[in-house]
Amino acid sequence: MSEAILLVGGRGTRLRPLTLTTPKPLLPVAGVPVTVHQIERARDAGVTRVVLGTSYRAEVFAERLGDGRDLGVEIAYAVEDEPLGTGGAIRNAAELLTCAPGDPVMVLNGDVLSGVDYAALVEGHVSSGAALTLHLTRVADPTAYGLVPTDGDGRVLAFREKPQTPEEIVTDQINAGCYVFTRAVIGEIPAGRPVSVERETFPDLLARGRVVRGVVDDAYWLDLGTPWDFVRGSCDLVLGVAPWRGHEPADSLVQTGAQVDDAAVIGGGTTVGHDARILGDAVVEGSVLLDGCVVEAGARVMGSVIGAGARVRGGATVVDSVVGDGAVVEAGNELRHGARLWPGVVLPPTSVRFS
Ligand code: GTP
Repeated sequence: MSEAILLVGGRGTRLRPLTLTTPKPLLPVAGVPVTVHQIERARDAGVTRVVLGTSYRAEVFAERLGDGRDLGVEIAYAVEDEPLGTGGAIRNAAELLTCAPGDPVMVLNGDVLSGVDYAALVEGHVSSGAALTLHLTRVADPTAYGLVPTDGDGRVLAFREKPQTPEEIVTDQINAGCYVFTRAVIGEIPAGRPVSVERETFPDLLARGRVVRGVVDDAYWLDLGTPWDFVRGSCDLVLGVAPWRGHEPADSLVQTGAQVDDAAVIGGGTTVGHDARILGDAVVEGSVLLDGCVVEAGARVMGSVIGAGARVRGGATVVDSVVGDGAVVEAGNELRHGARLWPGVVLPPTSVRFS
């Protein structure tokens, strides 16, 4: 295996307001962009060249990742003027591949943390002669996902939309956002228009009788699409629950330039970004503090993201919420239950008490 395509062009609407300033694949999980975690795992599995399929804020990727030499791979950038969807993005990125038509190409959604064995997926794909191999993962609640039933030989039987009734839950296997295409098969995706692999390309391959394999793998898997999964993924990496080669599991990860006062309590896999400060007796549990933010003495932050340069004042509480870049939560406020504060917003001080 040598080439992979990474899809990083989505707008990341479910992760707003974090994605208003930074594309989702570049948001730091445990201090490192999820794209970088993926490229490092792909490199360790034998990938030497990565084509990034970019659209939303395309320029930021090249600024951050350059030609890839720091990561030990070569990176090429395929830019879409208009978003082409997942299938159109793969087709567009394939123009920059250098491998032969019969070679395998790994394709990764740019927002997934996964411990799946990439090399084994590719080897299985090549030896089976399939047109497409999908990594499938099992989930406890399949109702929120499109389902992918397979037969006893691992051949995909159908691609089902999200189940609406209990009878429609025919399997707990879902598409994990990691595929291996035989390169020539990518050429069958229509060029120059938006295409969804999930809704169009995959069902079409099945309808045309092509061999589509599904490999069920129960390794760690998490789609970082929502703020809560983003926080969870970051904490899982720090705690050692999610795979991260060379990382020593820890209760927290404090990046360079950050300040954590002696009386402060931090844990639960919290990451404290560069130059962020946790002052006095502040409590921060299971959260992501982005660069330069401040949590003052007497503040509590749990299961939340505090944006770059944001400030949580003493006497304020933030639980399961997102504070946008540069926003300020003044004393007395309680943000809970999925609240999202937009960048730069100042919540004025309040003495109202919530039960
Ligand atoms: P939401 O808006 O929150 O659903 O996020 P998203 O825009 O990232 O969409 P989704 O999570 O379904 O995308 C799955 C993967 O495909 C992500 O890695 C996206 O970056 C990527 N992706 C989605 N649409 C496009 C597109 O039009 N072009 C490119 N290049 N990538 C895309």
